[in-house]
This record gives sequence, C-alpha cells and structure tokens, in this order.
Amino acid sequence: MQYPIWEVPMLGGGMVIAIIAIIHVTIAHFAVGAGLFAAVTETKAIWYNQPLLLRFLRDFIRYLILVSFVLGALTGVGIWFSISLVSPEATSTLIHQFVWGWATEWVFFFLEITAGYIYYYTWDRLEPRKHAIIGWIYAVSAYMSLVIINGILTFMLTPGAWLETFSFWDGFFNPTYWPSLVLRTISCTSLAAIFVMVAVNFARGYTREERHQVIMEGGKWMVPLALMLPASIWFFIQVPQEARLLVSGQAIAMTLFFLFGVAASTLVGLYAYFGLILRQRYINLETSILLGMIAFIATGSMEFVREGIRKPFIIYEYMYSNAIRTADSGLLNQEGVLAWAPWTVLAVGGTSEAELTPEQRGEALFRAQCLRCHTLDGFNGIKPLIKRWPENSIRHALENLHVEQYYMPPFFGPEKDLEELTRYLLSLNQGEAAPQSNGKITANG
Ligand code: HEC
Repeated sequence: MQYPIWEVPMLGGGMVIAIIAIIHVTIAHFAVGAGLFAAVTETKAIWYNQPLLLRFLRDFIRYLILVSFVLGALTGVGIWFSISLVSPEATSTLIHQFVWGWATEWVFFFLEITAGYIYYYTWDRLEPRKHAIIGWIYAVSAYMSLVIINGILTFMLTPGAWLETFSFWDGFFNPTYWPSLVLRTISCTSLAAIFVMVAVNFARGYTREERHQVIMEGGKWMVPLALMLPASIWFFIQVPQEARLLVSGQAIAMTLFFLFGVAASTLVGLYAYFGLILRQRYINLETSILLGMIAFIATGSMEFVREGIRKPFIIYEYMYSNAIRTADSGLLNQEGVLAWAPWTVLAVGGTSEAELTPEQRGEALFRAQCLRCHTLDGFNGIKPLIKRWPENSIRHALENLHVEQYYMPPFFGPEKDLEELTRYLLSLNQGEAAPQSNGKITANG
C-alpha cells in the first residue's frame, strides 16, 4: 500500500510478470538441464571414447551460451524489474526473509556463468578430463541456483510453518519444496533433451546417421517425464485445499490451463516413449521445434497455474495479491485503505485523503484494492465484467467478493468506502444504459 501502483493498460501488471516469467522459467530450466546433460555426456564420451558426442557438445554449448546466457540473463533482470514494480510490498517481504538465500543464489549464478564461459573457451584447449571438471562445476552451480530459487518460489504458495515461526528454514523447506524440485528437475531434463534435438538439426556438418545417434542420446533425458504425473499429484497433495479447489473446477481458467499443461507434457512424454525409445524414430528440425513449442506451452501453463492458484494471496495467508497483509485487515476494515495509500491519493489527483471528492475516492479505492488484478477494459477488465450490472448487484458483489469468488480478497473498508467504490464502478459503464435498480438482489454473473 505504501508504494505507488504500476498501472499497465490492457495487460495489467500481473500479465507482464507472467509473460516475462514464463519465458525466463523455460530458458532457465533448459539451461540447468543442458548443463547436466553436457557434464554427464562429456564424461561418458571421454570414458567410452565417443568423438561424435564430443563434437556435438561443442556445438551445443555454443547455442546454450547464446540462448540461455543472453536471454536468460535479460529475462531474469526483467523479472526483478516487473515484480518490484507490480508488487513492491511482496518483493520487499521476500528480500527481507531470504536475503541470504538470494545472495547465495547469486554466487551460484555467477559461478555458473563464469564456468559456462570457461567451459566454452577451453574446449580442445584443456586436457579432456580437466575440461569435464569445469563442465561439472557449471552443471552443479546451475542446479544449485534452482535448488535455492525453488525454496523462495514455493514459499509464496505454501509458507507453512513460517507463518508462525518466521524462520528462514521453515519458509525455505516449505510443504511444496520437494515435489516442486522434482517437477522442475523433470522439466529441466526434458527441455534439455528437446533442445539437443533442435540443436543437432540446426548444426551443420552431421550426417543423418550421426544426427540420429545424438538424438537417441538426448532422448534418454526425456525418460524422467514418466515421473511427471506422480510428482504433480504429490505437489497437489501439499497445496492448500482452497488452491486445489481452484484447479479442480472452481476457477475454470485455472482448470483449463492445468489440463493444457498436463495434456501437453503427456503428449511430449508419449512421443518420447513411442517415437524415440520404442521405434527409434528420426526427429527432424520441424518436429523438434514443434516438440519444443509443446514443451513451452506445458511449462507456461504449469507456471500459470502455480501462480493462479495462489489467489487471492501473493504470499499465502500472509499477504493478499493487492498487498494488504492479512494481519492488517481488521485495522484497514475500520479505517479504510486510503489513509495508508498516499501514492494512490496522488494518482487520482489529490494531495491528501481529506481533499478527495467522493468520485476520486472511488477511483482511488479501485486502484488500491482491485487494479493489481483488474484492468479497466483489457485483460480481466472490470468494465466488461460488470457491464449492465445494476447498482445493487455491484454492491452485493463488493460485500461478498471473497465469499463468492474465493480467488478475490475481501473488500476492506467502512461502509462509506464501499458506497464510493460502488458508485465509481457504476460510473464506468455509464452512458451504456444500465437497467434501473429494482431493489432486489439480482444475479451477478
Ligand atoms: C487477486 C486478484 C483479484 C483482485 C485483487 C480482485 N479481483 Fe475481481 N476478479 C478476479 C478474477 C480472476 C476474476 C474472474 C474473472 C472472470 O471470471 O473472467 C474476478 C472477477 C470479478 C468480478 C465478476 C464476478 C462475477 O461474479 O462475475 C467482479 C465484479 C470483480 N472481480 C470485482 C472486483 C473488485 C471491485 C475488486 C477490488 C475491490 C476486485 N475484483 C479485486 C481477481 C481479482
């Protein structure tokens, strides 16, 4: 509340984070998986003397550096940029709780990037065994950054015992930590496998037979996909019951995204099993890119679901998506939020709360409590949602936001605020003939 609210027309701030984050997660998972693939495969190729694999790895690492270091670093900074603009309060909570976690993660990230570049530049210049050791440093530090960030990401959905103890370790090794780590690891190895197929099709100077051998080597890394379903079940067992209900039908968008995600990963898994492992099919460039896109959709959908089912919270049972801390809700209910939202008062044209007109107060209340999830008429736009609603329906919705739609926080504030927000919402669609209020509570859907 004490920070300005970033208004993103049409998309909404949450969508900006989602777009950057989905790209980043896919690249980051791929980079981690690719590091493990390179270390394991190089070691094996040296051991069993497989020059083809060594030659391929050299090309592979070049693509890895181009794609993942550049795009991964850019989108990683993009995430920080967007989360601190959209949810400064939650970002601040995370930094305060996990500052050493993050510091450690950055050390591993630095190691990963440095080792990655050294790995690339010392190819053929170092004795093979020593070179493989650098590959392992790269792989382990990349994986460690996942091990750490996973604790902070899962914390937001299932802070668990932290809610009482506020202890770093309780927050870090929270109820979804382990299933999520397994899921992310599976995602890493599968994305790496698919990228091996794309890379070998892109690289020049391989015969069809050589490509096929490399593809079979990469294909093995899709085997962990078989664990996707049991690990997802494990994950959902650990998730709060309300969040589980959102996936299983209460929020239809979440259910659909979840089904897309499951279907897409199952398709990739089935293709890997029947096409690659049973029939040893050759995979050409188009097919491998198609597989990559399906995997991207799967990863994106699952991330979307993970973020979506956390609603109405940004940190479960600690802070709502609109930055109101559950601990403050009693106070805010009495005093209204505007006294605590100076930037929002400025944003609607006032200098102090006392100075605002009722219309300005209505708008300010919308900005403070709803704007994080609702744009005006873009993504999840409030105008189309309440089009043609009479005043008493809007009022009824506001009084029951959290009861009727669990994924929305309740409205906080005294009667006067509720009235002003109702008026403001009503005014949004004015000129488009709202039916006269007939005094009855009408259906609001
Ligand atoms: C945590 C995010 C979030 C916040 C905060 C939030 N909403 Fe929503 N709201 C949603 C979502 C998601 C939907 C579902 C939209 C859909 O069904 O397409 C929704 C739907 C609605 C609907 C339509 C409900 C129905 O029964 O059809 C109304 C009205 C609404 N919101 C008003 C508000 C108001 C007013 C506020 C601020 C006081 C608010 N919301 C705050 C996420 C939020």
